[in-house]
Amino acid sequence: TDGARVSALVIGSGYGGSVAALRLAQAGVDVQLVEMGMAWDTPGPDGKIFCATPDPDQRSFWLRTRTKQPFSNFFGFPIDKDIPRYTGILDAEEFSGITVYQGRGVGGGSLVNGGMAVTPKRENFGAILPTVDANEMYDVYYPRANAGLGVASIRPAWFDSTDWYQFARVGRKQAQRSGFPFVFVPDVYDWDYMEQEAAGTVPKSALAGEILFGNNYGKKSLQKTYHPKIAATGRVTISPLHRVTQVVPAAGGGYTVTIEQLTTTGAVSTIKTVTADTVFFAAGSVGTSKLLVKLKATGALPNLNGEIGRGWGDNGNVMVGRANHIWDPTGASQSTIPCGGIDNWNAGGAFAEVAPLPTGIETWASFYLSITKNPNRAQFTWNPATRAVELNWQTAWKQPSIDMAKTIFDKINATEGTIYRTDLFGTYKTWGDHLTYHPLGGAVLGKATDNYGRLTGYQGLYAIDGSLIPGNTSVNPFVTITALAERNIEKIIAQDF
Ligand code: FDA
Repeated sequence: TDGARVSALVIGSGYGGSVAALRLAQAGVDVQLVEMGMAWDTPGPDGKIFCATPDPDQRSFWLRTRTKQPFSNFFGFPIDKDIPRYTGILDAEEFSGITVYQGRGVGGGSLVNGGMAVTPKRENFGAILPTVDANEMYDVYYPRANAGLGVASIRPAWFDSTDWYQFARVGRKQAQRSGFPFVFVPDVYDWDYMEQEAAGTVPKSALAGEILFGNNYGKKSLQKTYHPKIAATGRVTISPLHRVTQVVPAAGGGYTVTIEQLTTTGAVSTIKTVTADTVFFAAGSVGTSKLLVKLKATGALPNLNGEIGRGWGDNGNVMVGRANHIWDPTGASQSTIPCGGIDNWNAGGAFAEVAPLPTGIETWASFYLSITKNPNRAQFTWNPATRAVELNWQTAWKQPSIDMAKTIFDKINATEGTIYRTDLFGTYKTWGDHLTYHPLGGAVLGKATDNYGRLTGYQGLYAIDGSLIPGNTSVNPFVTITALAERNIEKIIAQDF
C-alpha cells in the first residue's frame, strides 16, 4: 500500500526473487514482493490459465499487438498474427542487435521456459563464477536448488518406446553416428504426469503443444515449488501488475521505492511509494540492469560503481534446423519438453539441445537450441535523449556461436548426407541468430557487487538474479541462478539481518 514501510522489498518474482522472498520470510523478515506481470492464477474464458502455443491469444505476449514467434516462418510462410495488447506472459524485448525473450508474471521465466534443469559440469564451474567456492556450490547449494525446484529425469524405458520422443531418438542416433555423446537433460516437468498424458488418463499439457505461453498442468514452475512455501510463511505480500521505476535513499534511512500499478493494457493506473529498509533487485538480467543503469545515470543511486550494466551475454544461444531423409521421420507427435542434448562443449564450444518442433504434422526436421562458449559481452547504457536503456549487442557477435554449433551439425550433415533447413527463421536463412532466451549479466558478482550480491556504494541494496552471472553458464541457466541465490541469501541473512 502507498506510504507503507517494509523491511525487505524484492523486485521481481522469478528464480532469484522467489529464493530471496522465501528465505527472508522463513528467517522472520516481512517481505513485499513486487512483480510487473500478472498473477496467472485465474482461468480465461476457455477454462485454462494459459493459452496454447499453436493458437496464441492476448495472453501470449507482453504488450504487443502482433505475436513475435521465435521462429517466424514455417516452410517459408510467416506465422505471426495480430493480437490485442495485453500484459501477456512472454516478453520479446527488442534491443538493436538482439531480441531477448523473458517471462512476465508471478514466477518470472519459470512460467514460459522449457524447464530444462541442468547443473553445469563441475570442471566448467570456474569459468562460470570464478570467485565462488565450487565445493560449497556442489555440496550444498546445487543440491538445495535441485531439490527445491523438483528436478527429475525421463524414465529411460519410456524414452525408448514412446512416439512422443521419436524426434529425440533420431537426435540421439544421429549424434552417436557422428561420434558425439548424447546426454539426458533433467527437467522440472512431472515425468509421471507426462506418461499419464500419453496414456490419455489426464489432461495434456506437454503433449498438447504447451510451452512458450505457459503450461497448464505438468510443469513444476515456481508457482508449484517455491511459491506455495512462500505463501505458507504468511510473511510475504505479493503485488502483481506493479512495476518498480525508482529507488532512492530515504531521508531517515532505507530507500524510497516508486511503484507503478499497471492495467492489463499496460497503462499506469496508480503511482505508489514505499519505504524499504532493504531492496533486492531480482528483475532478471535485463530488468535489473535496466533499473540499475538508469538509477546510476539519473542520479538516484550515483555511488553504484562503473561495472553496472557490463558483462552481459546471451549464453551463446543459437538455433538451427536440419532436414532429414524420408526414412528418418521425427514424428507428428512431439512432446514440448526436451530431454537430451549433444555435448561437444570441450572440443567445439557447443552444447546442443535436441529440441521439439511440435507442429502436429510430420516435418522430417531436427531442431536444436545450442548453448555455445560465445566470448562476446555487451553493455547497457542510458540514453538521456530517449530516456531509455540501450544494449550494444550486435547481431554479428553471434558468428562465434554459429561456428561452434557448426562443429556439431556440419559433421552430422556430412555423416547423414543431409542439409540445413532454411525456412524457419525467414526465407533462405539457416541460423536463428537474432535472439536469446538466456540473458545473463549486467550486475556481475564480485564486480558490480561484492562476492554475495551486495551492490557496491550502498548498504541494503542487493542483486540476486541472472544479472550476477557473467554472460554464460555452459548449460541452461536457471539451476545456477537458483543455487547462487540460495548461497547468497544465506550469507546475507546471517550477516545483514
Ligand atoms: P526472471 O526473468 O525469471 O524473473 C524476473 C521477473 O522480474 C519477471 O517476472 C519480470 O516480470 C519481473 N520484473 C522485471 N522488471 C521489473 C520491474 N521493474 N518491476 C517489477 N517486476 C519486474 N532456462 C533454463 O535453465 N532451462 C530452460 O529450459 C529454459 N528455457 C527457456 C525458454 C524460454 C522461452 C525463456 C524465455 C527462457 C528460458 N530459460 C531457460 C531461461 C530462464 O527462464 C531464465 O534464465 C530465468 O527465468 C532467469 O531468472 P531470474 O530470476 O534472473 O529472472
